[in-house]
Amino acid sequence: MKMIRCYIRHEKLEAVREKLFELGAPGLSVSDVKGIGKPMSQLKSDQESKVPQFHPRVEISIVLEDQAVQEVVDMLIATVRTGNLGDGKIFILPVEDAIRIRTGEKGEQALY
Ligand SMILES: Nc1ncnc2c1ncn2[C@@H]1O[C@H](COP(=O)(O)OP(=O)(O)OP(=O)(O)O)[C@@H](O)[C@H]1O
Ligand SMILES: [Mg+2]
Repeated sequence: MKMIRCYIRHEKLEAVREKLFELGAPGLSVSDVKGIGKPMSQLKSDQESKVPQFHPRVEISIVLEDQAVQEVVDMLIATVRTGNLGDGKIFILPVEDAIRIRTGEKGEQALY
């Protein structure tokens, strides 16, 4: 299993939610966060003297079976990309186990 954790703009969240459920994602968690991306190279253009500022972003976490990861990553990129700075970033983390508390199911059984 893997966790896909991505940071996107708020206005893309509804579109991502719809596509995730079209793809049969087993669940997701969403948080409001504030973040800073690759600040130095962005600041070089016109604001060299300024300290990097936080920007509001949505953090989405989705735990999936390994085989489902690539299509979700492809969907995220297709749905979220505008081509502008700050489009976001996707991280993929290993997940050791999952447990559905109600039943005690473990691993992929706990996801689907
Ligand atoms: N290395 C990182 N670690 C943790 N969070 C990050 C990291 N890089 C980006 N983020 C999160 O992703 C958000 C969006 O980052 P952003 O899209 O600006 O990345 P970037 O690398 O600067 O790409 P771009 O050049 O397209 O702007 C940030 O506001 C932050 O919340
Ligand atoms: Mg950036």
